[in-house]
Amino acid sequence: MCGIVGYIGFKDVKEIILRGLEKLEYRGYDSAGIAVAYNNNIYICKEKGRIYSLRESIDRSITGYLGIGHTRWATHGEPNKTNSHPHQSSTGRFTLVHNGIIENEEELKNKYLQGVKLNSDTDTEIIVQLIEKFVNEGEPVDLAIRHTMSELKGSYALAIIDKEDMDTLYGAKNKTPLLAGKGDGFNMLSSDAMAMIDYTNLFYEIKDKEFLKVTKDSIEIFTISGEKVTRKPYKADIDTIDTEKGTYPHYMLKEIEEQPFVIRKIISEYTDENGNIKISPDILQDVRSCNKVYIIACGTSYHAGLIGKQFFEKISKKPTEVVIASEFIYNMPLLSEKPMFMFISQSGETADCISVLSKIKDMGYKTLTLTNVKGSTLYREVDHTLLLHAGPEIAVASTKAYTAQIAVLAILASSIDNRVNIDVCKELSIIANVMESLCSDKEKYKSLAEKYLVNSRNCFYIGRSMDYHVCLEASLKLKEISYIQTEGFPAGELKHGTIALIEKNTPVIGIITQEKINLNTRSNIREVEARGAATMIISMKKVSQDTDAIVIDNVNELLSPLVAIIPAQYLAYYAALLKGCDIDKPRNLAKSVTVE
Ligand code: M6R
Repeated sequence: MCGIVGYIGFKDVKEIILRGLEKLEYRGYDSAGIAVAYNNNIYICKEKGRIYSLRESIDRSITGYLGIGHTRWATHGEPNKTNSHPHQSSTGRFTLVHNGIIENEEELKNKYLQGVKLNSDTDTEIIVQLIEKFVNEGEPVDLAIRHTMSELKGSYALAIIDKEDMDTLYGAKNKTPLLAGKGDGFNMLSSDAMAMIDYTNLFYEIKDKEFLKVTKDSIEIFTISGEKVTRKPYKADIDTIDTEKGTYPHYMLKEIEEQPFVIRKIISEYTDENGNIKISPDILQDVRSCNKVYIIACGTSYHAGLIGKQFFEKISKKPTEVVIASEFIYNMPLLSEKPMFMFISQSGETADCISVLSKIKDMGYKTLTLTNVKGSTLYREVDHTLLLHAGPEIAVASTKAYTAQIAVLAILASSIDNRVNIDVCKELSIIANVMESLCSDKEKYKSLAEKYLVNSRNCFYIGRSMDYHVCLEASLKLKEISYIQTEGFPAGELKHGTIALIEKNTPVIGIITQEKINLNTRSNIREVEARGAATMIISMKKVSQDTDAIVIDNVNELLSPLVAIIPAQYLAYYAALLKGCDIDKPRNLAKSVTVE
C-alpha cells in the first residue's frame, strides 16, 4: 500500500527519492509524487500511474538536498494527480506525505478548518492544514505537529517539510510502519527498509505516537508529549542483491525458483550442528502448555495456516483453529480455556492481523508471529517470533513466503510433540530436491497454461483433504495475477451446487497427492468431464495415472503442499504472462496491506 520516503543530506535528492519509491513499487500503488526543497522553495511533481511517468515528468534542472516522496494506493478519493501526495498547506509552507487512514477527518474539518479551502478529496490534506493552523496560532513547528498528532484518530506515517526550515525533515508514526535510516552525512525516513537499503543498513525503529526531527547529521525521536526517547539503531541483514530481479523477467518467477534454496536455508537456520531442531525453549513451552492454537492470518498466509493446522493436529495432537484476521476482529470464536495465538504474515505489517494482536494482547494471551520481516510490527509486538528466512519477497503474489511458512510450521509442530514419527528436516531436504526438479519443467507449464487457461473466463481447482487447502492457494495465485475467476473447491462438494457452473471447456484442475482420497477425487473429475469440463490433473507419482498432466516425485504426504503448489504457481505465472498482465504488480492489489 502507500509508501513514503524522505531524505536529507548532501546528494541531489531526486534520484534517491525516485529509487526509493521504485523499491516500494512492490507494495502496490496507483499514483506517485515527490517534493524537493530548493532555493527556499518547494518543487512538487505528481503523476497518476507508474513511477516511470513521474520520472519522465520531473524537472531535471531542480537540485535539492531535502525531499519527500510517496506512492499512493487510493483510499479517500480517486487515483488522480490532485489526490496524490505530497499535499501542501494553504500558504505552501508545509508539505507532507502520509501513509495510513485518518478516521476523524470530518470531525477535524468541522472543528478546525471551517474557512480553509481544501484542494483534494484526501484525508491527508487535513493533517497538513492542521499543522499550519496551529503554527499560525503561535505554536512552534514541533509542538504544532505533536498537537496535530494528538488530534488524529487512525493510522499515519508522515514525512513533513517546512519551507522555512530546510535543514529539518519531520516524521511521525501511529499504527503504520515508519523507520529512520542512519547514514553518514545524511539521514532518511521510510515506511520500508527496502527503500533505504541501497544507502544504509542502520535503522531506528519508530514506535506508535512518536515524533521525529531529522537533520543530515542527527535523528531525534520524541514521544507525542515531547520527551526525548533514547534508542539504539539496529542493523538490517538485507542483501541489496536480494531486492533485484537479476536476469529474471519478473520477481514472481525469481521467487518461485528460489523456493528450493529457501527450504534449505530454513533447515540450516532451524537445526544445530548435530542436525537437531533448534527452537527457543520458551516458544516450545508456551505452545506445549496451551490447550488450543489459534492461527490468525490473511490471504496466502491464511492458506499456509490451514496446512499448519493439519501439522499441529496430526503431528503433535494440538487442537488448532485457523481464523481469517478480518473476521476474527468482529466475530471472535468462543476461545478455549488456555489459548495461544499464532500470527502468520509475510510482511508482518498486515493491518487486520495487527488489530487482532492488539485485542489479544489486552486479553493477556501468549502470542507468536511467523514472519519474513525482522523488525516489522508483528515481529516486535508479540511474545515470540519465528523468522521465515525467505529473503525479500517483492512480487505481490506470494510464493516463496507460502512454502517458507509451511516449512517453519512443520518444524515447529514436529518439535512440540512428535507423536507421528516424522523427521521433518530430512523430509524437507527431499522436498527441496523435488522442488528443484519441478522448476526445470517450465515449458510444460507454459504450454498447459496456453492450452487450458489463457482463453478461459473461469477455472476450478479441486481436491480433497490437504489437496483442497492447496487448491485454495492455487486458485488465489491464478486469479490475483491473471484475473481469471478461479475457485478452489473441495472435490466432493462440487455436486452440491457448484457443478452447475461447469460448461463446455471450463478448466478444472485436480490436485491429488494423498493415497486415501485418490480414487474419490478422480471420480469427481470424471463427473465434471462428463459435463464438458477440460480437466487436468496434478498428482504425486505414487497415485498417478498415465494421463495425468503433471506428476510430482513422491514426498511425505503430509508435506505434499510444499511441492503440489509449485506447478500451480507456474501455471498462474504463465497464464498471466500470456495474457499480458502486469505480473509483479497486479491491478488493485498491494503487497503490504496496511489498512483494515
Ligand atoms: O503479509 P501478509 O502475509 O500478512 O499478507 C497477507 C495477504 O495480504 C497476502 O498473502 C496476499 O493474499 C497475497 N497477495 C497473496 O499472494
